[in-house]
Order: sequence, then structure tokens, then C-alpha cells
Amino acid sequence: MAIRNYLFFVFLVNFCIFGELECQEATEKVLCEEGYCLRQIQAGACAATSPNCRFNNATGVALPSPTTCNCCDFCMPFIAENSPCSLGGPGEGTTIGRCADGLTCIDGMCQRMPASLSECHKRQDEFDQRQLDGEGGWLEERPACDGKGRFAPYVCVPTQTCFCQDEDGQRLFGEVLHSSRVTPQTMPCECSRRLHRLKASIDPGVRFPVDGPRCTADGNFYPVQCVGQICHCANKLTGVLEGKSVNVTEDKVSDLPCYDKDLDLFAAYNFDNFSSPCLEEKREKVALLQASIDQGYTVDYYNDVSDCHPDGTYGRVVVNNGTKICLDEWGKQIGHYQALPNTPEYDNMNCNCAVTSSIMAASLEQPVCCSNGNFRAVQCRRGRCRCVDQHGRQTETETYDVASLSCATEGWETC
Ligand SMILES: *[C@@H]1O[C@H](CO)[C@@H](O)[C@H](O)[C@H]1NC(C)=O
Ligand SMILES: *[C@@H]1O[C@H](CO)[C@@H](O)[C@H](O)[C@H]1NC(C)=O
Ligand SMILES: *[C@@H]1O[C@H](CO)[C@@H](O)[C@H](O)[C@H]1NC(C)=O
Ligand SMILES: *[C@@H]1O[C@H](CO)[C@@H](O)[C@H](O)[C@H]1NC(C)=O
Repeated sequence: MAIRNYLFFVFLVNFCIFGELECQEATEKVLCEEGYCLRQIQAGACAATSPNCRFNNATGVALPSPTTCNCCDFCMPFIAENSPCSLGGPGEGTTIGRCADGLTCIDGMCQRMPASLSECHKRQDEFDQRQLDGEGGWLEERPACDGKGRFAPYVCVPTQTCFCQDEDGQRLFGEVLHSSRVTPQTMPCECSRRLHRLKASIDPGVRFPVDGPRCTADGNFYPVQCVGQICHCANKLTGVLEGKSVNVTEDKVSDLPCYDKDLDLFAAYNFDNFSSPCLEEKREKVALLQASIDQGYTVDYYNDVSDCHPDGTYGRVVVNNGTKICLDEWGKQIGHYQALPNTPEYDNMNCNCAVTSSIMAASLEQPVCCSNGNFRAVQCRRGRCRCVDQHGRQTETETYDVASLSCATEGWETC
């Protein structure tokens, strides 16, 4: 039971709901009671704020003031590239502010974070160099980095799809059609990323897969999130619980105003409690294992409890009667992609191309997939061919001469 409690704790802290109120009450009792700030401000104890925050926070960020009870307004200015900065320390002097997004303080100057500090900037530099050398591809996109030099929440393959990635550039759950509507504001991939962080931080010491938020196909939060028997409406982009909640032992999740039947992949199962076949199977297995442990058996088959996909499904690659096949989020088989056991096609099967094609169903220019639903290494478009990685991203310049491509190895046509 200890494990469960710990997991819920992490879950709640992540959603930041109950904790905050209590903290506030506790400090208010000591000093920051109502009126304290009013008296401070009237006494003129606040310093003038930097103007940097005035225009849409363009060159500064408003933060809680570093004064008692955060009474005053405070603006931390951003220092521009090639302007002096300080890391503090004896004899270094002080500057108020921090280097702007993507910059860091080197030798007393704000400079673009070097490749040695940022893998994302390193990839940008490599991309830029290849473009200069005429080696770039038409369908390659310059890697996008965030303000801390880490990878942006998603990456796009022009003419195909955009998919979520973590801060180190590893692909995560969440993929949508490539379009101008995909922006960091509409697809922050925060559900995928949070789930990924949650697993990375507790999985090593925990025997069973952890429960986390449920995500939608774009890596955002499902509009309903449940903690135990209580289900809440949640913000799709931030996951913050908001508005009404229901206790599913008494009421139905579908009573919530934010419940959307069109998004409910398991509506057909009539799970009033927001469960799914995979989640139920996982729950039963965990309960069985927990019971054996409680009875004193040494159980060493934890790995049998495989985790569900972030959307509550079994995943996109599933084993059906020994054969692997590709499924879409609704559990429908995609095409005739399959692989038989004990073949390399089976072991490497990721269905990335099959899933991308199903998302691009309405497009006339579909990628070519291998028989197991993976991307074929050679993709051709309008007469020219290019090499792609396992996610369909172009890796070298396109050419009319397929044979000259590094990926056009023996038998590339029939993979
Ligand atoms: C500036 O940033 C603060 C804190 O992030 C935010 O509350 C405020 O709305 C922002 N102001 C503008 C004009 O964007
Ligand atoms: C939900 O309802 C059940 C049945 O009325 C009750 O036993 C349980 O304590 C409730 N759960 C919460 C967290 O309120
Ligand atoms: C959810 O509902 C299903 C079907 O009503 C039931 O079999 C299952 O035990 C419930 N799961 C939980 C976690 O309450
Ligand atoms: C599973 O495979 C076996 C052997 O290939 C076959 O006899 C059986 O009919 C298959 N079952 C289903 C449900 O497809």
C-alpha cells in the first residue's frame, strides 16, 4: 500500500491542488496576514520595477518579489546577447537579471548557449552547416529549441505529421497531422512529457507500472482526469484540475460537463469509471501480484505487468495470436501490416509509418511503409528520393539517382 500512496502523492503534487492552500494558511498565521502588504506598500517599501516587463514580457519576466510576503511587484529583466552579465561570487559584481532565452553567461557576457551545453543547439549548428554545404534536404526542419537550450515539445516532418519529444529529443507519445494549426500553444505535449518524467523518476524503484494522467492523441491532457474514484475536469494544455468533479462509485464520468464522447476511445465499453480494457487488465495483474506479496510469496515476475499506452490503449503495436499487427487509437487494425515471430521484422516493428499514414488518411501523398508498418528507408516524392529515419525524418539530400543514397541498400524496395 505504501507504493500506492506515494504514487498518488506525486500525482497530486504534479497537479498542484491541495498543497498550496495549506501552505498559504500556515504562513499567513505567522506574518503575512491580510493588511501586512498594504502597510508595506503604503510605507513606500517597494523599489521601482524594471520597465522590461511592460511590453508583453518581451525583455523580462514578472516573478514573485524577493521581499517578505512577496508584497511588491518585481520584474526580472532579460539581458540581451553580448551584454554584460554576472554569475555572482566574490569580486564579480552583480547584475540584476538573467540572460535571455537560449543565452548563457560566459566570460561576463550573455552568449548563445554553446553546443557543448546544449545538444539542441548542437543539432541546430549541424543543420545550419549542412544547409551551407548544400547537403540539406527539402523536407528537413531546423531543430527547435526552448529557452533553456533543450528540445522544443514537438518536431514536425513537413508534408507529414508532428510528434512529441522530450527535452532530450527522444520521441514521445502524441502525433498529429502537420499543419499551420500546430503551435507550441496548441500542442505543448505536456501530458506526454509529464508522464515521461513521472515514470523516469519513480519507475526504477517501483515494481509495477505507475498510474499517471491520461493523454489524448496529440500529447495533451484528456479533459477528464481521475485520481482514485474521483474524476475531475482538467485543462487540456496544462492538466490543472478545474471545475466539477464526480465520485465514480456514485456517478458517471459522462455526467461531467467536460466529458466528450467523441474523444472517449472506450465509450463502447460503458466504463462509467473511465477505465479501459488495458487499464483493467493491468489493475487485476497488479492486485494479484500484490496479494501474493502480502501472503509472503517471493514474486519475481513483475515484468509481466506491461504498461498501457498514455491514452489507455494497449498501444499501436500489438501481438494478435502470435503475430504482431498495427492498430490505430480506436483499436482498429491499420492496413495489412504484420510480422511473424522470430523474424527481424517482428523484433524491429514500430508501426510508425502505419500510424503516420492512418493520420494522413486524407492525403494523396502517403509515405511508403514496409510490410511491418515501419518507414521504408527510401522515400520518394515528385521524382526525387531521400533517406528517412525510423520516424520518417529526412536525413540526407534528395536526389533523382536512388542508387546514390546511403540508405538504398540491397533489397530496399521490398522491406
Ligand atoms: C507576464 O508574465 C507574467 C508571469 O509569467 C504573467 O502573469 C503576465 O500575464 C505576463 N504579462 C503579459 C503582458 O504577457
Ligand atoms: C465515493 O463514494 C463512495 C460510496 O458512496 C464512498 O464510500 C467513498 O468514500 C467516496 N470517495 C471519496 C473519495 O469521497
Ligand atoms: C470499472 O468498471 C468496470 C465495469 O463496470 C468494472 O469491471 C471495474 O472493476 C471498474 N474498475 C474500477 C477501478 O473500479
Ligand atoms: C491462431 O493461429 C493458429 C495457428 O496459426 C490458427 O490455427 C488459429 O485459427 C488462429 N486463431 C485465430 C483466432 O486467428
